[in-house]
Amino acid sequence: MPKTTTQIQLIQPDDWHLHIRDGEVMKDVLADTARQFARAIIMPNLKPPVTTVDLANAYRGRIEANLNALGISSFTPLMTLYLTDNTSADEVRKAKSEGIVGLKLYPAGATTNSDAGVSDIKRCYAALEAMQAVGLPLLVHGEVTSADIDIFDREAVFIDQVLEPLRKDFPELKIVFEHITTRQAAHYVRDAQTSGKNSLAATITPQHLLMNRNAIFAGGIRPHNYCLPVLKREEHRIALLEAATSGNPRFFLGTDSAPHAKGAKEAACGCAGCYSAFNALGLYAEAFESAGKLDKLEGFASFFGSDFYSLPRNTKKVTLVKQAQSIPAELPLGDATIVPLRAGETIAWTLA
Ligand code: NCD
Ligand code: ZN
Repeated sequence: MPKTTTQIQLIQPDDWHLHIRDGEVMKDVLADTARQFARAIIMPNLKPPVTTVDLANAYRGRIEANLNALGISSFTPLMTLYLTDNTSADEVRKAKSEGIVGLKLYPAGATTNSDAGVSDIKRCYAALEAMQAVGLPLLVHGEVTSADIDIFDREAVFIDQVLEPLRKDFPELKIVFEHITTRQAAHYVRDAQTSGKNSLAATITPQHLLMNRNAIFAGGIRPHNYCLPVLKREEHRIALLEAATSGNPRFFLGTDSAPHAKGAKEAACGCAGCYSAFNALGLYAEAFESAGKLDKLEGFASFFGSDFYSLPRNTKKVTLVKQAQSIPAELPLGDATIVPLRAGETIAWTLA
């Protein structure tokens, strides 16, 4: 009988796609992430969005103030800008010189707080030109937005209509296809011919590794399993799990943990976003274990993202233990509460 693994050591992971919002609620969600991760890429879809370097620096300041108040000195936020039709090449160069790590493309209307997003990628060519020149990655929410495209097809259509032409026009631009959800996206990233410069990668969330679209409708509507891009069929989950656990450095960890208060989720028109930050590492460990590939977790969680962004790898080690952790039904979120992923259930792995 093979011995079952009960603990694993790995270099401390980073989260390459995270929403922490602003104001009162930020400290509640930040604490969950900082308990597990050394760094995280902070998404810029605030209201109003973080469209300039000055706004990003101010946002970084508020994050640091919260970290100080929480007594956390071991966590580094990595800032991004929200790309708009009007982002200038000068702003891109300024972003590079001030340590911004990327610009996020939200097709207008694609997801939470994306109304100010890009109406037509052609309007961004000056900014993209500058990003390619200075080596600033483009992080993409990869879904088309036209109402006549089925919601389950929007990612695959985005590849053909937007991503492939974009990569032809900017062969050296570094692109992260964020939170991929389909076999088409996983295979596109795996098989893409790049200029040889490590220029295409993808993040994968825990929910897309662990659940298929049945989870949104199991016994009734389950708003806490609703995120964008929406969960897909089982065949897609399997393709994502295969990609994540393959050891291919183009795939790395990005939780897309996206907090919304309980009342905003459990509503007639509920918000999109799963709150996975409470024990995100445990969720990923479960997924990798289900594939018999726990040995591939460290590359995915701790190495490939920093390599892609040309940042140093972390050096501190952490230990994950196979010890069921109960997930509370609700957690505090400012004056309200939030329902975490797996609320009221257990997660098999947890940080020691
Ligand atoms: C995110 C959010 O709430 O900000 N929601 C989500 O469902 N993932 C936005 C996003 O990343 O699409
Ligand atoms: Zn996101």
